[in-house]
Amino acid sequence: MANAQLSRAEALACSGCRHACHVMLYSDTKSQLFGRTPIKHIILMQMRFDGLLGFPGGFVNQSQERLEAGLCRELQEELGVTLSISEDDHADARYATGTNSSPRLITHFYVKKLKEEQIKEVEQASASTAKDHGQEVLGMVRVPLYTTKGGGGLSSFLSHAFIGSARTQLVDSLLRLHLLAPEDLHKALKHSLKTHALGAVDLQAALALTEAKRDHS
Ligand code: IMP
Repeated sequence: MANAQLSRAEALACSGCRHACHVMLYSDTKSQLFGRTPIKHIILMQMRFDGLLGFPGGFVNQSQERLEAGLCRELQEELGVTLSISEDDHADARYATGTNSSPRLITHFYVKKLKEEQIKEVEQASASTAKDHGQEVLGMVRVPLYTTKGGGGLSSFLSHAFIGSARTQLVDSLLRLHLLAPEDLHKALKHSLKTHALGAVDLQAALALTEAKRDHS
């Protein structure tokens, strides 16, 4: 990550800063795609109300609640489950880039490993009992860590649009937790850049469609 890392204590010492906490929930899995491609790990992200991909979580007012308590409150609303997230799960804190307006925002990132059954419970609750379902959260998604024959999978996923530093948090976690070989991740990201360029061509074609309609209306 480009901007400087802070410890949890340094982040909390910042007077006048706002704090946002997000978490990567993940598990191991033995399941296989099409019965032959190992899925290896399930990592949960979400499609947000603004059309961007991100991790579950949100703003925490640390003058009123501990960071982890605020994160658990957000998770209850977004996922419909009670999870226990502790200081030990705190992986990273940084100043958010692109937010020059005062007060400054510090984004805290937590990582929590669950059992596969717990991940499935989270997925079910997030689409049934969670208060934010269909509103702030449009749906949970799993991150594909494999590469398909045509080069899709992780590379296509990474070429989508992400909120803030969520893509970097994902890539950083994959490397730090050894969930994927650096070489495979490097290849996927290089392919993502190509996919991204092709996406721009595709968008131009879609834009041309609307322009033709506008001219005839
Ligand atoms: P929100 O309430 O989840 O939108 O989070 C509050 C702020 O944190 C957002 O305005 C973003 O700047 C940032 N943010 C949201 N999601 C993520 C994430 O997954 N990773 C890093 N920052 C995020």
